[in-house]
Amino acid sequence: MNENVYPHNWSREGFLGDFVVALRPHPINEYTEVAGPHAPHRIDLTAVKAVDATDPAELPTAFARSRNDLVLSVSARSEPTPFVWRNAEYDEVHLVQEGELEYVTDWGTLAVRPGDFVFLPRAVSYRVVPTTPTTLRVIIETPEAVAMNPQAQPGMINAARAVRRPDPARVSQESGPTTLLIRTTDGITRFTMTNDPLAMTEIVYGRAPVWTVNLADIQPVAYLPAGGPPSHFAETPTKDLLLYTLSSRPGGRPPQHHNADYDELVFYFRGPAPYGGLDAPGTGIWIPKAVAHWGPREDPEGGYLAWLLESGGTIRLTAEGLAAAELMETSLFHPLVPAPGGVA
Ligand SMILES: [Fe+2]
Repeated sequence: MNENVYPHNWSREGFLGDFVVALRPHPINEYTEVAGPHAPHRIDLTAVKAVDATDPAELPTAFARSRNDLVLSVSARSEPTPFVWRNAEYDEVHLVQEGELEYVTDWGTLAVRPGDFVFLPRAVSYRVVPTTPTTLRVIIETPEAVAMNPQAQPGMINAARAVRRPDPARVSQESGPTTLLIRTTDGITRFTMTNDPLAMTEIVYGRAPVWTVNLADIQPVAYLPAGGPPSHFAETPTKDLLLYTLSSRPGGRPPQHHNADYDELVFYFRGPAPYGGLDAPGTGIWIPKAVAHWGPREDPEGGYLAWLLESGGTIRLTAEGLAAAELMETSLFHPLVPAPGGVA
């Protein structure tokens, strides 16, 4: 292709609806100044001040929220949660960025490791026990119900091998009075329970609705030889939330993109290769909807693991998120270098 021709893709409904690719004579994603709330940012999850890192009684720290009540938080627990947690109005998905933990749930214990997505529907009860000195997780809360899509693309996830559920033979060993926190949109309700609500004798019917799959076990969809859009593996009923692997794949550099209906959040999990300007595990980008961006090549030698969250509700970073974020240019996701005397 002529190096002076710049492909541009405008897409509706993520990558599922109207889709048009045009060639343009110059890049349409570049800018030198930006002011206002709807501006792309790089975010360093390791720089978010997670208050539960040092005080186990604290809760995860929200770094972003959407207009549809999606909440994104960071947790960095080093000690077990001193309470049982139950979310009444949100499904949760956790991504383990660093460390290993055990989720002690209603139906046994689930051991998780870096790269695991942990799916915890509402009304599930659990507490978390770190098994490494430090941990780092992204906590996604959605008022909708999250499900695999509904079984992901054939060849994308080998559910029989890659999906793990709690071990019902490893049940909670706690007993006696237990603090139970129930989360709703308007806050936390604290119960003191007579006994540990996680205690279980056996499962007599059905299977635990808690499950995990590792990012490395989700096969990126590729279209050879020229590439094509990614495919999501989990979604909510209105598709307000879509989850993808955005790990390296054949196909080269995608076109510049206008995502008409979704904000994009991409998190770099690990290399060895970088994803454009993202080369530190736990760094990510937030690209607000309708802002043109141009991702880097997706097939660097050595590869990388990354994931993409699409949010139908427009995202805004919280004060804690902004404190760990900086403006970025949107071609290779480096920090934005402001024009001399410009606003940035
Ligand atoms: Fe995009």
